[in-house]
Amino acid sequence: MQIDEIRKRFLDFFEKRGHAVIPSAPLVPINDPSVLFNTAGMQPLVPFLLGEPHPLGKRLASSQKCVRTGDIEEVGNNKNLTFFEMLGNWSLGDYFKEEAIMWSYEFLTSKEEGLGLDPSRLYITVFEGDEDAPRDMEAVEIWKKYISEDRIYFLPKKNNWWSPGDNGPCGPDTEMFYDVTEEGLGDMTHDEYVKADDEGKVVEIWNDVFMEYEKKDGKVIGKLKAKNVDTGSGLERVAMLMQGKNNVYETDAFSGIISKINELKSKSDKKAERIVADHIRTSVFLLGDGVLPSNTERGYILRRLLRRAVRFADNLGIPSSSLYILAKEVQTKYQNAYKEVQNENILEEIKKEEAKFRETLEKGMKEFEKGTDAFTLFTTYGFPIELTQEMAKEKGVDIDMKDFESKLKEHQDLSRSASAGMFKGGLANHNEKTIRLHTAHHLLLAALQQVLGSEVKQKGSNITEERLRMDFSFDRKLTDEEKQQVEDIVNEAIEKDYSVVRREMPKEEAEKIGAEMEFGAKYPDTVSVYFIEDKDGNVVSKEFCGGPHVTHTGEIGKFKIKKEEASSSGVRRIKAVID
Ligand code: SER
Repeated sequence: MQIDEIRKRFLDFFEKRGHAVIPSAPLVPINDPSVLFNTAGMQPLVPFLLGEPHPLGKRLASSQKCVRTGDIEEVGNNKNLTFFEMLGNWSLGDYFKEEAIMWSYEFLTSKEEGLGLDPSRLYITVFEGDEDAPRDMEAVEIWKKYISEDRIYFLPKKNNWWSPGDNGPCGPDTEMFYDVTEEGLGDMTHDEYVKADDEGKVVEIWNDVFMEYEKKDGKVIGKLKAKNVDTGSGLERVAMLMQGKNNVYETDAFSGIISKINELKSKSDKKAERIVADHIRTSVFLLGDGVLPSNTERGYILRRLLRRAVRFADNLGIPSSSLYILAKEVQTKYQNAYKEVQNENILEEIKKEEAKFRETLEKGMKEFEKGTDAFTLFTTYGFPIELTQEMAKEKGVDIDMKDFESKLKEHQDLSRSASAGMFKGGLANHNEKTIRLHTAHHLLLAALQQVLGSEVKQKGSNITEERLRMDFSFDRKLTDEEKQQVEDIVNEAIEKDYSVVRREMPKEEAEKIGAEMEFGAKYPDTVSVYFIEDKDGNVVSKEFCGGPHVTHTGEIGKFKIKKEEASSSGVRRIKAVID
Protein backbone atom coordinates (compact mmCIF):
# COMPACT_ATOMS: atom_id res chain seq x y z
CA MET A 1 0.00 0.00 0.00
CA GLN A 2 1.49 3.34 -1.07
CA ILE A 3 1.69 6.47 1.07
CA ASP A 4 -1.14 8.23 -0.77
CA GLU A 5 -3.44 5.30 -0.09
CA ILE A 6 -2.40 5.00 3.57
CA ARG A 7 -2.98 8.72 4.14
CA LYS A 8 -6.35 8.54 2.44
CA ARG A 9 -7.46 5.48 4.37
CA PHE A 10 -6.48 7.10 7.65
CA LEU A 11 -8.34 10.33 6.99
CA ASP A 12 -11.40 8.52 5.59
CA PHE A 13 -11.46 6.21 8.59
CA PHE A 14 -11.65 9.08 11.04
CA GLU A 15 -13.92 11.20 8.91
CA LYS A 16 -16.39 8.34 8.99
CA ARG A 17 -16.16 8.43 12.77
CA GLY A 18 -17.15 12.05 13.04
CA HIS A 19 -13.78 13.76 12.68
CA ALA A 20 -13.26 16.93 10.66
CA VAL A 21 -10.26 16.46 8.39
CA ILE A 22 -8.03 19.52 8.68
CA PRO A 23 -5.30 20.43 6.18
CA SER A 24 -1.69 20.22 7.27
CA ALA A 25 -0.54 23.49 8.80
CA PRO A 26 2.59 24.93 7.20
CA LEU A 27 5.91 23.71 8.56
CA VAL A 28 6.60 27.15 9.93
CA PRO A 29 4.32 27.51 12.94
CA ILE A 30 1.81 30.31 12.74
CA ASN A 31 1.99 32.44 15.84
CA ASP A 32 4.18 30.08 17.77
CA PRO A 33 7.48 31.88 17.83
CA SER A 34 9.14 29.50 20.25
CA VAL A 35 9.70 26.66 17.80
CA LEU A 36 11.32 26.65 14.40
CA PHE A 37 9.12 24.05 12.78
CA ASN A 38 6.14 21.88 13.53
CA THR A 39 7.59 18.71 14.97
CA ALA A 40 4.35 16.86 15.69
CA GLY A 41 0.82 16.76 14.42
CA MET A 42 -0.47 18.27 17.62
CA GLN A 43 1.70 21.35 17.53
CA PRO A 44 -0.64 23.56 15.52
CA LEU A 45 -3.43 22.43 17.83
CA VAL A 46 -1.91 23.46 21.14
CA PRO A 47 -4.25 26.38 21.82
CA PHE A 48 -7.18 24.01 21.31
CA LEU A 49 -5.71 21.33 23.51
CA LEU A 50 -5.40 24.02 26.15
CA GLY A 51 -9.09 24.79 25.92
CA GLU A 52 -9.78 27.23 23.12
CA PRO A 53 -12.76 25.98 21.04
CA HIS A 54 -11.75 24.74 17.59
CA PRO A 55 -13.88 26.14 14.77
CA LEU A 56 -14.31 22.70 13.23
CA GLY A 57 -15.42 20.90 16.34
CA LYS A 58 -14.13 18.46 18.90
CA ARG A 59 -12.99 15.64 16.65
CA LEU A 60 -10.18 16.35 14.23
CA ALA A 61 -7.85 14.35 12.03
CA SER A 62 -4.94 15.35 9.84
CA SER A 63 -1.77 14.38 8.12
CA GLN A 64 0.65 17.02 9.34
CA LYS A 65 3.97 17.94 7.75
CA CYS A 66 6.71 17.78 10.37
CA VAL A 67 10.40 18.61 10.43
CA ARG A 68 12.78 17.39 13.10
CA THR A 69 16.43 18.19 12.71
CA GLY A 70 17.55 17.43 16.25
CA ASP A 71 19.28 14.22 15.26
CA ILE A 72 20.29 15.13 11.77
CA GLU A 73 23.43 13.02 12.05
CA GLU A 74 21.31 9.90 12.48
CA VAL A 75 19.71 10.43 9.10
CA GLY A 76 20.51 7.63 6.70
CA ASN A 77 21.02 5.08 9.44
CA ASN A 78 17.59 3.65 9.93
CA LYS A 79 14.17 5.14 10.49
CA ASN A 80 15.23 8.74 10.98
CA LEU A 81 14.00 11.37 8.60
CA THR A 82 14.18 15.13 8.89
CA PHE A 83 10.83 15.52 7.14
CA PHE A 84 7.90 13.22 7.74
CA GLU A 85 4.15 13.23 7.79
CA MET A 86 2.36 12.47 11.00
CA LEU A 87 -1.11 11.01 10.85
CA GLY A 88 -3.19 11.95 13.86
CA ASN A 89 -6.65 12.08 15.32
CA TRP A 90 -7.76 14.31 18.16
CA SER A 91 -10.48 14.54 20.68
CA LEU A 92 -10.79 17.97 22.25
CA GLY A 93 -12.64 17.06 25.40
CA ASP A 94 -14.85 14.62 23.52
CA TYR A 95 -14.06 10.86 23.47
CA PHE A 96 -11.24 9.50 25.61
CA LYS A 97 -9.35 6.25 26.10
CA GLU A 98 -12.09 3.79 25.14
CA GLU A 99 -12.65 5.07 21.60
CA ALA A 100 -9.07 6.16 21.01
CA ILE A 101 -7.73 2.68 21.67
CA MET A 102 -10.56 0.94 19.86
CA TRP A 103 -10.07 3.00 16.72
CA SER A 104 -6.30 2.66 16.78
CA TYR A 105 -6.69 -1.09 16.94
CA GLU A 106 -9.38 -1.15 14.28
CA PHE A 107 -7.43 1.01 11.87
CA LEU A 108 -4.27 -1.02 12.30
CA THR A 109 -5.94 -4.37 11.79
CA SER A 110 -9.01 -3.86 9.60
CA LYS A 111 -8.45 -5.13 6.07
CA GLU A 112 -11.40 -3.23 4.63
CA GLU A 113 -10.96 0.21 6.14
CA GLY A 114 -7.49 0.21 7.61
CA LEU A 115 -4.08 -1.34 7.20
CA GLY A 116 -4.92 -4.98 7.75
CA LEU A 117 -1.83 -5.57 9.90
CA ASP A 118 -1.40 -8.92 11.63
CA PRO A 119 -2.75 -8.60 15.21
CA SER A 120 -0.40 -11.35 16.41
CA ARG A 121 2.53 -9.03 15.69
CA LEU A 122 1.28 -6.14 17.83
CA TYR A 123 2.74 -5.17 21.22
CA ILE A 124 1.49 -2.44 23.50
CA THR A 125 3.15 -0.26 26.10
CA VAL A 126 1.36 1.79 28.77
CA PHE A 127 2.41 4.23 31.49
CA GLU A 128 3.55 2.53 34.70
CA GLY A 129 2.60 5.45 36.98
CA ASP A 130 4.49 7.87 39.22
CA GLU A 131 3.87 10.89 41.45
CA ASP A 132 2.24 12.84 38.60
CA ALA A 133 -0.28 10.27 37.42
CA PRO A 134 -1.38 6.73 38.32
CA ARG A 135 -0.45 3.53 36.54
CA ASP A 136 -2.71 3.47 33.48
CA MET A 137 -4.86 0.44 34.34
CA GLU A 138 -7.74 2.00 32.45
CA ALA A 139 -5.81 1.72 29.20
CA VAL A 140 -4.81 -1.84 30.05
CA GLU A 141 -8.43 -2.87 30.66
CA ILE A 142 -9.42 -1.47 27.29
CA TRP A 143 -6.49 -3.04 25.46
CA LYS A 144 -7.35 -6.43 26.96
CA LYS A 145 -10.45 -6.50 24.78
CA TYR A 146 -8.20 -6.71 21.73
CA ILE A 147 -4.79 -7.98 22.78
CA SER A 148 -3.54 -10.62 25.18
CA GLU A 149 -2.40 -9.17 28.48
CA ASP A 150 0.99 -10.84 27.96
CA ARG A 151 1.64 -8.40 25.16
CA ILE A 152 1.02 -5.28 27.24
CA TYR A 153 4.04 -3.78 29.03
CA PHE A 154 4.35 -1.04 31.64
CA LEU A 155 7.05 1.55 31.08
CA PRO A 156 8.10 4.74 32.87
CA LYS A 157 7.64 8.37 31.99
CA LYS A 158 10.73 8.35 29.81
CA ASN A 159 8.86 6.08 27.38
CA ASN A 160 5.17 6.52 27.99
CA TRP A 161 4.52 10.15 28.67
CA TRP A 162 4.29 12.77 25.96
CA SER A 163 4.67 16.49 26.12
CA PRO A 164 5.73 18.87 23.39
CA GLY A 165 8.11 20.82 25.61
CA ASP A 166 8.46 22.27 29.07
CA ASN A 167 5.18 24.11 28.81
CA GLY A 168 1.83 23.00 27.53
CA PRO A 169 -0.51 20.05 27.46
CA CYS A 170 0.82 16.58 28.24
CA GLY A 171 -0.15 13.16 29.53
CA PRO A 172 0.51 9.45 29.70
CA ASP A 173 0.43 7.57 26.45
CA THR A 174 -0.01 4.10 25.10
CA GLU A 175 2.19 3.09 22.22
CA MET A 176 1.74 0.41 19.61
CA PHE A 177 4.67 -1.56 18.25
CA TYR A 178 4.87 -4.00 15.37
CA ASP A 179 7.10 -7.03 15.09
CA VAL A 180 9.26 -6.67 11.98
CA THR A 181 11.24 -9.89 12.28
CA GLU A 182 10.82 -12.62 9.73
CA GLU A 183 10.37 -15.46 12.19
CA GLY A 184 7.99 -13.60 14.51
CA LEU A 185 8.76 -12.85 18.14
CA GLY A 186 5.74 -14.44 19.80
CA ASP A 187 5.13 -13.93 23.52
CA MET A 188 7.85 -12.02 25.33
CA THR A 189 8.55 -11.16 28.95
CA HIS A 190 8.95 -7.52 29.88
CA ASP A 191 12.74 -7.72 29.62
CA GLU A 192 12.65 -9.61 26.34
CA TYR A 193 10.33 -7.00 24.95
CA VAL A 194 12.59 -4.12 26.01
CA LYS A 195 15.53 -5.89 24.39
CA ALA A 196 13.59 -6.49 21.17
CA ASP A 197 12.79 -2.77 21.06
CA ASP A 198 16.46 -1.85 21.59
CA GLU A 199 17.44 -4.15 18.77
CA GLY A 200 14.88 -2.66 16.40
CA LYS A 201 12.92 -5.90 16.16
CA VAL A 202 9.73 -4.03 16.96
CA VAL A 203 8.90 -0.64 15.48
CA GLU A 204 6.67 2.00 17.04
CA ILE A 205 3.77 2.69 14.75
CA TRP A 206 1.33 4.74 16.77
CA ASN A 207 1.13 6.73 19.92
CA ASP A 208 -2.12 7.63 21.68
CA VAL A 209 -1.54 10.40 24.20
CA PHE A 210 -4.18 10.96 26.86
CA MET A 211 -3.69 14.65 27.31
CA GLU A 212 -5.32 15.63 30.53
CA TYR A 213 -2.38 17.31 32.31
CA GLU A 214 -0.54 20.59 31.95
CA LYS A 215 3.14 21.31 32.30
CA LYS A 216 4.77 24.55 33.31
CA ASP A 217 8.51 25.10 33.38
CA GLY A 218 9.08 21.39 33.09
CA LYS A 219 6.75 20.36 35.92
CA VAL A 220 3.32 18.83 35.77
CA ILE A 221 1.16 21.40 37.53
CA GLY A 222 -2.26 19.80 37.34
CA LYS A 223 -5.10 18.75 35.12
CA LEU A 224 -6.44 20.53 32.07
CA LYS A 225 -10.08 21.52 31.90
CA ALA A 226 -10.78 18.84 29.34
CA LYS A 227 -9.59 15.31 28.74
CA ASN A 228 -8.07 15.29 25.29
CA VAL A 229 -6.70 12.65 22.99
CA ASP A 230 -3.70 13.32 20.75
CA THR A 231 -2.52 10.51 18.53
CA GLY A 232 0.39 10.34 16.15
CA SER A 233 1.53 7.79 13.62
CA GLY A 234 4.48 8.30 11.29
CA LEU A 235 3.29 7.83 7.73
CA GLU A 236 6.63 6.75 6.30
CA ARG A 237 7.09 4.16 9.03
CA VAL A 238 3.67 2.75 8.40
CA ALA A 239 4.52 2.63 4.70
CA MET A 240 7.69 0.73 5.57
CA LEU A 241 5.64 -1.97 7.29
CA MET A 242 2.99 -2.08 4.63
CA GLN A 243 5.59 -2.44 1.90
CA GLY A 244 7.57 -5.09 3.75
CA LYS A 245 10.74 -3.01 3.94
CA ASN A 246 13.09 -2.56 6.82
CA ASN A 247 13.91 1.04 6.18
CA VAL A 248 11.96 4.10 5.15
CA TYR A 249 14.18 4.94 2.18
CA GLU A 250 12.95 1.86 0.37
CA THR A 251 9.31 2.92 0.53
CA ASP A 252 7.50 4.64 -2.32
CA ALA A 253 8.00 7.98 -0.50
CA PHE A 254 11.60 7.83 -1.71
CA SER A 255 11.55 5.59 -4.76
CA GLY A 256 11.64 8.43 -7.33
CA ILE A 257 14.44 10.41 -5.79
CA ILE A 258 16.55 7.35 -4.91
CA SER A 259 16.35 5.99 -8.44
CA LYS A 260 17.33 9.40 -9.81
CA ILE A 261 20.33 9.43 -7.46
CA ASN A 262 21.28 6.00 -8.75
CA GLU A 263 21.09 7.27 -12.31
CA LEU A 264 23.35 10.23 -11.57
CA LYS A 265 25.88 8.79 -9.17
CA SER A 266 29.22 7.28 -10.07
CA LYS A 267 30.19 5.94 -6.65
CA SER A 268 28.25 3.81 -4.21
CA ASP A 269 27.54 4.84 -0.65
CA LYS A 270 24.13 3.85 0.71
CA LYS A 271 24.24 6.23 3.63
CA ALA A 272 25.22 9.19 1.46
CA GLU A 273 22.38 8.36 -0.94
CA ARG A 274 19.89 8.44 1.88
CA ILE A 275 21.25 11.64 3.33
CA VAL A 276 20.99 13.39 -0.03
CA ALA A 277 17.47 12.03 -0.56
CA ASP A 278 16.32 13.03 2.89
CA HIS A 279 17.82 16.52 2.81
CA ILE A 280 16.55 17.40 -0.65
CA ARG A 281 13.08 16.18 0.23
CA THR A 282 13.00 18.26 3.40
CA SER A 283 14.38 21.29 1.56
CA VAL A 284 11.63 21.09 -1.04
CA PHE A 285 9.00 21.16 1.70
CA LEU A 286 10.67 24.00 3.59
CA LEU A 287 10.99 26.09 0.44
CA GLY A 288 7.38 25.23 -0.36
CA ASP A 289 6.38 26.83 2.92
CA GLY A 290 8.31 29.99 2.23
CA VAL A 291 11.59 29.35 4.07
CA LEU A 292 14.65 30.69 2.23
CA PRO A 293 18.30 29.80 2.86
CA SER A 294 19.93 32.28 5.22
CA ASN A 295 22.28 32.46 8.16
CA THR A 296 19.73 32.55 10.92
CA GLU A 297 17.15 30.26 12.40
CA ARG A 298 14.87 28.53 9.89
CA GLY A 299 16.83 29.72 6.90
CA TYR A 300 19.98 28.40 8.47
CA ILE A 301 18.53 24.94 8.93
CA LEU A 302 17.57 24.92 5.27
CA ARG A 303 21.02 26.15 4.27
CA ARG A 304 22.61 23.49 6.40
CA LEU A 305 20.49 20.75 4.81
CA LEU A 306 21.25 21.91 1.29
CA ARG A 307 24.95 22.36 1.91
CA ARG A 308 25.16 18.98 3.58
CA ALA A 309 23.39 17.51 0.56
CA VAL A 310 25.98 19.10 -1.74
CA ARG A 311 28.78 17.53 0.20
CA PHE A 312 27.25 14.05 0.23
CA ALA A 313 26.27 14.34 -3.43
CA ASP A 314 29.96 14.96 -4.10
CA ASN A 315 30.82 11.80 -2.20
CA LEU A 316 28.54 9.95 -4.59
CA GLY A 317 30.13 11.52 -7.63
CA ILE A 318 26.85 13.17 -8.62
CA PRO A 319 27.65 15.93 -11.16
CA SER A 320 27.47 19.44 -9.76
CA SER A 321 24.30 21.49 -10.29
CA SER A 322 22.14 18.36 -10.13
CA LEU A 323 20.39 18.81 -6.83
CA TYR A 324 17.43 20.52 -8.44
CA ILE A 325 16.94 17.48 -10.67
CA LEU A 326 16.52 15.41 -7.53
CA ALA A 327 14.18 18.02 -6.12
CA LYS A 328 11.93 17.62 -9.16
CA GLU A 329 11.35 14.00 -8.21
CA VAL A 330 10.08 15.12 -4.82
CA GLN A 331 7.77 17.62 -6.48
CA THR A 332 6.36 14.93 -8.73
CA LYS A 333 5.77 12.55 -5.85
CA TYR A 334 3.98 15.07 -3.65
CA GLN A 335 2.28 17.37 -6.13
CA ASN A 336 -1.16 15.99 -5.46
CA ALA A 337 -0.98 15.78 -1.71
CA TYR A 338 0.76 19.14 -1.16
CA LYS A 339 0.18 21.81 -3.78
CA GLU A 340 2.81 24.11 -2.31
CA VAL A 341 5.69 21.87 -3.42
CA GLN A 342 4.91 22.70 -7.04
CA ASN A 343 6.15 26.25 -6.63
CA GLU A 344 8.65 26.93 -9.44
CA ASN A 345 10.83 28.99 -7.17
CA ILE A 346 11.81 25.90 -5.23
CA LEU A 347 14.07 24.60 -7.98
CA GLU A 348 15.54 28.05 -8.56
CA GLU A 349 16.41 28.46 -4.91
CA ILE A 350 18.05 25.05 -4.78
CA LYS A 351 20.08 25.83 -7.89
CA LYS A 352 21.12 29.16 -6.42
CA GLU A 353 22.11 27.74 -3.06
CA GLU A 354 24.11 24.93 -4.61
CA ALA A 355 25.92 27.38 -6.88
CA LYS A 356 26.61 29.76 -4.02
CA PHE A 357 28.11 27.04 -1.87
CA ARG A 358 30.14 25.65 -4.74
CA GLU A 359 31.75 29.03 -5.29
CA THR A 360 33.59 28.57 -2.04
CA LEU A 361 33.38 24.83 -1.39
CA GLU A 362 36.58 23.79 -3.06
CA LYS A 363 38.63 26.58 -1.54
CA GLY A 364 37.00 26.00 1.83
CA MET A 365 37.83 22.29 1.70
CA LYS A 366 41.45 23.18 1.01
CA GLU A 367 41.42 25.60 3.92
CA PHE A 368 39.86 22.95 6.11
CA GLU A 369 42.61 20.49 5.16
CA LYS A 370 45.14 23.13 6.10
CA GLY A 371 43.51 23.46 9.50
CA THR A 372 41.78 26.82 9.08
CA ASP A 373 39.52 27.57 12.02
CA ALA A 374 35.81 26.87 12.01
CA PHE A 375 34.88 30.52 12.29
CA THR A 376 36.70 31.51 9.11
CA LEU A 377 35.18 28.54 7.33
CA PHE A 378 31.79 29.74 8.50
CA THR A 379 32.10 33.42 7.63
CA THR A 380 34.34 33.31 4.58
CA TYR A 381 33.45 30.00 2.99
CA GLY A 382 29.87 29.52 4.16
CA PHE A 383 30.51 26.22 5.92
CA PRO A 384 27.79 25.66 8.51
CA ILE A 385 29.56 24.95 11.78
CA GLU A 386 27.88 21.57 12.08
CA LEU A 387 29.30 20.59 8.72
CA THR A 388 32.79 21.53 9.80
CA GLN A 389 32.29 19.62 13.02
CA GLU A 390 31.24 16.55 11.12
CA MET A 391 34.18 16.75 8.75
CA ALA A 392 36.48 17.19 11.71
CA LYS A 393 35.01 14.13 13.35
CA GLU A 394 35.58 12.10 10.21
CA LYS A 395 39.22 13.13 10.35
CA GLY A 396 39.47 12.57 14.06
CA VAL A 397 40.34 16.16 14.90
CA ASP A 398 38.74 18.42 17.45
CA ILE A 399 37.16 21.80 16.90
CA ASP A 400 37.54 24.50 19.48
CA MET A 401 33.87 25.32 19.90
CA LYS A 402 34.52 27.86 22.64
CA ASP A 403 36.73 29.80 20.30
CA PHE A 404 34.13 29.55 17.55
CA GLU A 405 31.33 30.73 19.76
CA SER A 406 33.16 33.67 21.24
CA LYS A 407 34.22 34.85 17.80
CA LEU A 408 30.71 34.43 16.54
CA LYS A 409 29.27 36.44 19.41
CA GLU A 410 31.74 39.17 18.82
CA HIS A 411 30.98 39.11 15.14
CA GLN A 412 27.26 39.41 15.13
CA ASP A 413 25.92 39.21 18.60
CA LEU A 414 23.91 36.23 17.48
CA SER A 415 22.34 35.19 20.70
CA ARG A 416 20.09 32.57 19.27
CA SER A 417 22.38 30.80 16.92
CA ALA A 418 20.26 28.78 14.56
CA SER A 419 19.75 25.17 15.35
CA ALA A 420 20.79 25.34 18.98
CA GLY A 421 18.42 26.51 21.67
CA MET A 422 15.14 26.82 19.93
CA PHE A 423 14.62 23.10 19.55
CA LYS A 424 14.95 22.61 23.21
CA GLY A 425 12.49 25.38 23.94
CA GLY A 426 9.31 23.51 23.15
CA LEU A 427 6.05 25.21 22.62
CA ALA A 428 4.91 28.75 22.99
CA ASN A 429 5.41 30.14 26.34
CA HIS A 430 1.92 31.16 27.21
CA ASN A 431 2.87 33.22 30.17
CA GLU A 432 1.35 36.58 30.85
CA LYS A 433 4.26 38.66 29.55
CA THR A 434 4.49 36.83 26.23
CA ILE A 435 0.74 37.16 25.79
CA ARG A 436 1.00 40.93 26.26
CA LEU A 437 3.91 41.06 23.82
CA HIS A 438 1.89 39.05 21.34
CA THR A 439 -0.92 41.62 21.33
CA ALA A 440 1.67 44.41 21.08
CA HIS A 441 3.02 42.58 18.04
CA HIS A 442 -0.35 42.96 16.29
CA LEU A 443 -0.48 46.65 17.16
CA LEU A 444 3.05 47.15 15.87
CA LEU A 445 2.24 45.67 12.47
CA ALA A 446 -0.82 47.90 12.17
CA ALA A 447 1.23 50.96 13.17
CA LEU A 448 3.97 50.16 10.66
CA GLN A 449 1.37 49.92 7.92
CA GLN A 450 -0.11 53.22 8.96
CA VAL A 451 3.23 55.01 8.90
CA LEU A 452 5.07 53.24 6.07
CA GLY A 453 2.24 52.07 3.85
CA SER A 454 -0.20 49.21 3.70
CA GLU A 455 2.15 47.17 1.51
CA VAL A 456 4.31 46.45 4.57
CA LYS A 457 3.93 42.76 5.40
CA GLN A 458 5.10 40.65 8.26
CA LYS A 459 7.96 38.38 7.25
CA GLY A 460 8.76 36.71 10.50
CA SER A 461 8.25 36.97 14.19
CA ASN A 462 9.71 35.83 17.43
CA ILE A 463 8.56 36.52 20.94
CA THR A 464 10.46 35.72 24.11
CA GLU A 465 9.63 36.75 27.63
CA GLU A 466 11.86 39.77 27.25
CA ARG A 467 10.97 41.23 23.90
CA LEU A 468 9.22 40.87 20.61
CA ARG A 469 10.92 40.81 17.29
CA MET A 470 9.27 41.40 13.94
CA ASP A 471 10.67 41.14 10.44
CA PHE A 472 8.74 43.09 7.84
CA SER A 473 9.08 43.97 4.20
CA PHE A 474 10.49 47.45 3.73
CA ASP A 475 13.54 48.50 1.83
CA ARG A 476 15.23 51.20 3.84
CA LYS A 477 16.14 52.28 7.31
CA LEU A 478 13.35 53.98 9.24
CA THR A 479 13.94 57.59 10.19
CA ASP A 480 13.87 58.59 13.85
CA GLU A 481 10.60 60.38 13.26
CA GLU A 482 9.03 57.31 11.71
CA LYS A 483 10.12 55.15 14.61
CA GLN A 484 8.72 57.68 17.04
CA GLN A 485 5.44 57.81 15.14
CA VAL A 486 5.12 54.03 15.17
CA GLU A 487 5.85 53.91 18.88
CA ASP A 488 3.33 56.68 19.56
CA ILE A 489 0.58 54.95 17.59
CA VAL A 490 1.07 51.72 19.51
CA ASN A 491 1.12 53.51 22.86
CA GLU A 492 -1.98 55.49 21.98
CA ALA A 493 -3.79 52.24 21.16
CA ILE A 494 -2.69 50.89 24.53
CA GLU A 495 -3.91 54.01 26.38
CA LYS A 496 -7.27 53.85 24.64
CA ASP A 497 -7.69 50.36 26.04
CA TYR A 498 -9.20 48.87 22.90
CA SER A 499 -10.93 45.50 23.03
CA VAL A 500 -9.22 42.45 21.60
CA VAL A 501 -11.84 40.13 20.15
CA ARG A 502 -11.51 36.73 18.57
CA ARG A 503 -13.96 35.87 15.81
CA GLU A 504 -14.34 32.70 13.83
CA MET A 505 -15.28 33.08 10.21
CA PRO A 506 -15.00 31.39 6.83
CA LYS A 507 -11.52 31.82 5.40
CA GLU A 508 -12.86 33.64 2.33
CA GLU A 509 -14.58 36.21 4.44
CA ALA A 510 -11.42 36.82 6.47
CA GLU A 511 -9.47 37.28 3.26
CA LYS A 512 -12.11 39.60 1.87
CA ILE A 513 -11.93 41.91 4.83
CA GLY A 514 -8.15 41.95 4.43
CA ALA A 515 -7.12 40.28 7.67
CA GLU A 516 -3.35 39.95 7.85
CA MET A 517 -2.16 36.44 7.12
CA GLU A 518 1.17 34.74 7.22
CA PHE A 519 2.98 34.25 3.93
CA GLY A 520 2.87 30.68 2.65
CA ALA A 521 0.48 29.49 5.30
CA LYS A 522 -2.42 27.18 4.56
CA TYR A 523 -5.55 27.72 6.58
CA PRO A 524 -8.63 25.63 7.23
CA ASP A 525 -11.98 26.72 5.80
CA THR A 526 -12.95 28.30 9.08
CA VAL A 527 -10.35 30.51 10.69
CA SER A 528 -9.90 32.51 13.80
CA VAL A 529 -9.21 36.23 13.42
CA TYR A 530 -8.20 38.59 16.20
CA PHE A 531 -9.67 42.10 15.98
CA ILE A 532 -8.45 45.05 17.97
CA GLU A 533 -11.19 47.65 17.97
CA ASP A 534 -12.66 50.64 19.76
CA LYS A 535 -16.06 50.85 21.45
CA ASP A 536 -17.79 51.74 18.20
CA GLY A 537 -16.29 48.75 16.43
CA ASN A 538 -13.70 50.72 14.45
CA VAL A 539 -10.98 48.22 13.69
CA VAL A 540 -7.34 49.04 14.38
CA SER A 541 -5.92 45.61 13.58
CA LYS A 542 -7.17 42.32 12.22
CA GLU A 543 -5.00 39.24 11.90
CA PHE A 544 -5.43 35.51 11.33
CA CYS A 545 -4.18 34.18 14.62
CA GLY A 546 -4.52 31.30 17.05
CA GLY A 547 -3.94 33.52 20.07
CA PRO A 548 -3.75 33.80 22.96
CA HIS A 549 -4.09 37.55 23.53
CA VAL A 550 -4.97 39.99 26.26
CA THR A 551 -8.61 41.03 26.22
CA HIS A 552 -7.87 44.78 26.38
CA THR A 553 -4.87 46.64 25.02
CA GLY A 554 -4.59 48.54 28.30
CA GLU A 555 -3.11 45.38 29.81
CA ILE A 556 -0.06 45.59 27.57
CA GLY A 557 1.95 48.28 29.38
CA LYS A 558 4.28 50.86 27.82
CA PHE A 559 5.67 49.95 24.42
CA LYS A 560 9.18 50.83 23.32
CA ILE A 561 11.15 50.13 20.14
CA LYS A 562 14.67 49.08 21.09
CA LYS A 563 16.22 48.50 17.72
CA GLU A 564 15.51 48.83 14.03
CA GLU A 565 17.92 47.20 11.62
CA ALA A 566 18.27 45.35 8.32
CA SER A 567 17.38 41.67 8.47
CA SER A 568 17.97 40.66 4.87
CA SER A 569 17.51 42.33 1.54
CA GLY A 570 14.18 44.16 1.51
CA VAL A 571 13.41 43.08 5.05
CA ARG A 572 13.80 45.17 8.23
CA ARG A 573 13.75 43.96 11.79
CA ILE A 574 12.36 45.64 14.87
CA LYS A 575 12.96 44.60 18.44
CA ALA A 576 10.65 46.08 21.01
CA VAL A 577 9.87 45.69 24.68
CA ILE A 578 7.04 46.47 27.07
CA ASP A 579 7.10 47.26 30.74
N1 SER B 1 2.14 14.11 20.02
C1 SER B 1 2.39 12.71 20.01
C2 SER B 1 3.61 12.34 19.21
O1 SER B 1 4.19 13.17 18.57
C3 SER B 1 1.17 11.99 19.46
O2 SER B 1 0.67 12.65 18.37
O3 SER B 1 4.00 11.21 19.22
